[in-house]
Amino acid sequence: MDYKHEKLFEEKVFKDPVHRYIHVRDKVIWDVIGTREFQRLRRIRQLGTTYLVFHGAEHSRFQHSLGVYEIVRRIIDDGFSGQKEWNGEERLLTLCAALLHDLGHGPFSHAFEKVFALDHEKFTQDILTGDTEVNKVLRRVSPDFPQKIADVIGKTYPDKLVVSLISSQIDADRMDYLQRDAYYTGVSYGHFDMERILRVMRPAEEQVVIKFSGMHAVEDYIMSRYQMYWQVYFHPVSRSAEVILMKILHRARHLHNSGYKFTYEPVQFTSFFDRTFGLKEYISLDEGVLMTYFQWWRNEKDEVLADLCDRFLNRRLFQYAEFDPATEYRKIGELEKLFKEAGIDPEYYLVTDSSSDLPYDFYRPGEENERVPIYLQMPSGELRELSRSSEIVDAISGKRRTDHKIYFPEDLLAAKRDENPLYDKILRMLKG
Ligand code: NI
Repeated sequence: MDYKHEKLFEEKVFKDPVHRYIHVRDKVIWDVIGTREFQRLRRIRQLGTTYLVFHGAEHSRFQHSLGVYEIVRRIIDDGFSGQKEWNGEERLLTLCAALLHDLGHGPFSHAFEKVFALDHEKFTQDILTGDTEVNKVLRRVSPDFPQKIADVIGKTYPDKLVVSLISSQIDADRMDYLQRDAYYTGVSYGHFDMERILRVMRPAEEQVVIKFSGMHAVEDYIMSRYQMYWQVYFHPVSRSAEVILMKILHRARHLHNSGYKFTYEPVQFTSFFDRTFGLKEYISLDEGVLMTYFQWWRNEKDEVLADLCDRFLNRRLFQYAEFDPATEYRKIGELEKLFKEAGIDPEYYLVTDSSSDLPYDFYRPGEENERVPIYLQMPSGELRELSRSSEIVDAISGKRRTDHKIYFPEDLLAAKRDENPLYDKILRMLKG
């Protein structure tokens, strides 16, 4: 039998707290899971610094990836199989794209990407098509198979139905992470009736659509996502940890570029500081590596680096205050001046940060971040955009919410507040 259709002698199952079991029958899927690039995802947390707020959130991108695969497998094998809109030849491609959609995530994804101006989606594509173990497995299916998976993940693949299963406003990725993140953080948001949604999903020419009777289940899913963003993903305290993490990397890069002699040389970072890194250097990083350096750097002579690392490891995070950039932009300039006078480097200790989310949007042609809306399939067969039928979804459609905060080391300022009036002034300005 050809590799593409080869089945395992016995089905393998992974025990999973969200989906109960994850089923693998395809030899290709089993082989992909065994590659070192996929195993690396065990060492990258799904939610970055969120574990410093919700201590249960230690789950990895490995299990999320398996979860997305399992949802897609159920949609295809239990729902779409045999329906005329679904091209059965795309099955393995879709399963692989589901499994590998997050392959290029780095340690503490967003913070790391921001500091070094990287794009995890590009790394996903590079790992798929580059000189890697996973590429060798995928090429055995056909020489163009790795590129096809990269195209599905990059949303350029011609079969839009396949793309919409992996990334759309109601895709398997979101359905897995909402439930998984809710489970591990322990919050009561994030839960919705996925079983119901899977039953009302229908293949259509361009994308997945939802049978009209499933509208309320979809409303619940959209509200879950909305709640999870504001209660978990944008939690101001985990953003504080992320701010410190970014400042550690900034400081280390600054020290490296200015010729500082590290006691603990940042061997695994130098190619990132110098921007000479390749795929090999990127893949060799994980959160364990970063944490090890942070442990070492707590003992560096450079006080800023040592302090920031100690803050991150021992959860001595920055305090935050609301901040409105539209009306308070002058305040930042004044604060920076006061920080300098007080001998605290504002570059590392006074940080503004914004989070922003658009919970759902209908189609706005030509706009940046064009989104494919969710369509309901009406009893007549006609497709209707969700917010035209759902008042709840209509109420939040197209509304972007942005939250601005300013982060600072309150502990440090408060400790000297009584002896130095400058510290007191800064604190009153920040909190007032
Ligand atoms: Ni994902």
